[in-house]
Amino acid sequence: MPFLIFANQVPMDVKSSIHSGNIPKHVAIIMDGNGRWAKKQGEDRIFGHHEGVNSVREIVEACGEIGVRFLTLYAFSTENWNRPKEEVDALMELLVSTISMETPNLHSKGVKLEVIGDIKSLPLSCQLELKESMEMTSKNTKVTLILALSYSSKWEITNAVQQIAKMVEQGKLKADQVSSELIEEHLSTSKWPDPELMIRTSGEHRISNFLLWQLAYSEFYFTEVLWPDFRKDDFFRAILAYQNRERRFGKTSEQLSRH
Ligand code: IPE
Ligand code: IPE
Ligand code: MG
Repeated sequence: MPFLIFANQVPMDVKSSIHSGNIPKHVAIIMDGNGRWAKKQGEDRIFGHHEGVNSVREIVEACGEIGVRFLTLYAFSTENWNRPKEEVDALMELLVSTISMETPNLHSKGVKLEVIGDIKSLPLSCQLELKESMEMTSKNTKVTLILALSYSSKWEITNAVQQIAKMVEQGKLKADQVSSELIEEHLSTSKWPDPELMIRTSGEHRISNFLLWQLAYSEFYFTEVLWPDFRKDDFFRAILAYQNRERRFGKTSEQLSRH
């Protein structure tokens, strides 16, 4: 009994339970719950977005620590343009100030910044800040941080289909040459492997127009934790949960255990 009490008091080291041989190469996160987090503190929604930046910093660092090579963060969806103007403006300002302040830190940690989404729809100040940060970090290889900004998956897939349709129209391609690989080549994520793991915080169980194609075989992890509270140990818990999944890709469990 005394031993049990003692054992309960020892905080479990989540990170050391992770198996280094089975780290997902790519993790995608729907960072949700900033507004609710702020409301719980009796604050404005914007306060939650500001606090959310600290979670981003920790999770990028956590990826570097365990060897996750690609991290895609859903930061602003196409649908988010429909939020009140004050919130959209504050988010864009936060984006500019965060990129500007965090770039040296990202750079020193070997992080390369990339973006996906309708970047041209962002304010010019955001576009310039992003461009500068991407140029500065372009040679880094430790972690690639992909920000999904003004992004929606239906927008991305529609663009890909339009590009392919043009090739067919110009006679460069026959319709029956359109393959899943060709579609993938025309998605904005073509340079990176598909995420093995998708995390959504704040207890919402939906995909909200995020990476519909790329998540075809990803493992999903949902947590009640609101994004500003989601820190390294929460991330490591998600990785552990991933490591306990059996990814069958349509096969049977018996087939997999034969190898
Ligand atoms: C996620 O938090 C951040 C963005 C979508 C920009 P929310 O702002 O959606 O917070 P909730 O879901 O309203 O709590
Ligand atoms: C999804 O969150 C978009 C981002 C996290 C950027 P939302 O909070 O906008 O999603 P819905 O509208 O609740 O599905
Ligand atoms: Mg939300």
